[in-house]
Amino acid sequence: MKKIVVTGGAGFIGSHLADACCRLPGHPQVVILDNLRTGRQSNLERILHHSNLAWVQGSITDPAAVDEVCRGTDCIFHLAAMVSVPESLLSPLECVDINVNGTLHLLEAARRHGVKKMVLSSSAAIYGDDPELPKHERLRPAPQTPYGITKLDGEYYLEMARQQYGISTVSLRYFNVYGPYQDPKSQYAAAVPIFIEQALQHQAISIYGDGLQTRDFVFVGDVVAANLWVGQRAELHGVFNVATGTTITILELAQTICNIVGSTSPIEHLAPRPGDIRASWSDPSKLMATGFRTGYDLQNGLQRTLEVLTKQKS
Ligand SMILES: NC(=O)c1ccc[n+]([C@@H]2O[C@H](COP(=O)([O-])OP(=O)(O)OC[C@H]3O[C@@H](n4cnc5c(N)ncnc54)[C@H](O)[C@@H]3O)[C@@H](O)[C@H]2O)c1
Repeated sequence: MKKIVVTGGAGFIGSHLADACCRLPGHPQVVILDNLRTGRQSNLERILHHSNLAWVQGSITDPAAVDEVCRGTDCIFHLAAMVSVPESLLSPLECVDINVNGTLHLLEAARRHGVKKMVLSSSAAIYGDDPELPKHERLRPAPQTPYGITKLDGEYYLEMARQQYGISTVSLRYFNVYGPYQDPKSQYAAAVPIFIEQALQHQAISIYGDGLQTRDFVFVGDVVAANLWVGQRAELHGVFNVATGTTITILELAQTICNIVGSTSPIEHLAPRPGDIRASWSDPSKLMATGFRTGYDLQNGLQRTLEVLTKQKS
């Protein structure tokens, strides 16, 4: 690959992915398109030392900006999105504009410029609260929020582009991603970075609802590896879960983090959050059948996350 575009590259997952792309053999040119809606300048500062990396400050909803970055590109990793389920419930039209129209602008530019591969960061939110567990790709989608619905729309458009324009497209349905540099302070922060922060300070760990909701947590390094795996294989297309295939309650997660940190934090229960899914557990066997393997279990992934955090703070 000579040129790779990473949309949302100033974000948590995108910055790890852009970093990994810069290190690929042959050192391809890597261009991030991000408008810093939820991304962070500090994520860019961490990786902009790569001489083969450039950042374009712009929106995926701006056809001219999208067209410009896609010129001469071999592969697009599309991560830019409205990422929060609660925010999508508050602003569904904006969610459609970013997550659906933005994706379409990229596909249109990909078609014009002969881009060979596009990988969409999709989500387990597509499965909604379907009682069947673990969730596998043959389940009928049942998204319950604008976020989930727009991710499903994106998947359909990617498959359409494969059939109609001949672009090799893949949608990766991530389960709950965690790892270094995940922001604990953002308005819609995820459980792992918040719990780590609270545990380190021996403050009460705040859990929405009874804490018996389950999640399949996947380390960001494995999500990056999955993107590179499918991105470099023209023959792979369609929808794949990205997860470990193990599940844990939020309460157990809090306890695991406290044990690793050596924290005495008590647990505090908050009101349940609208749109929160009760049970989430993936069957990752479809991606594994292609030869892909995750490298981290929750214990290792949390330890790695803490190591980086400790280094950052020292
Ligand atoms: N973190 C998870 O657990 C998880 C789970 C499932 C799916 N995903 C998906 O993975 C992707 C990355 O998520 P993340 O956790 O790194 O979130 P993030 O908020 O850190 O990253 C999203 C990035 O997209 C950028 N962005 C938003 N709107 C944009 C626009 N209009 N134009 C250009 N850039 C824009 C943001 O500034 C940010 O840098 C998203 O598509 C998200 O839906 C994440």
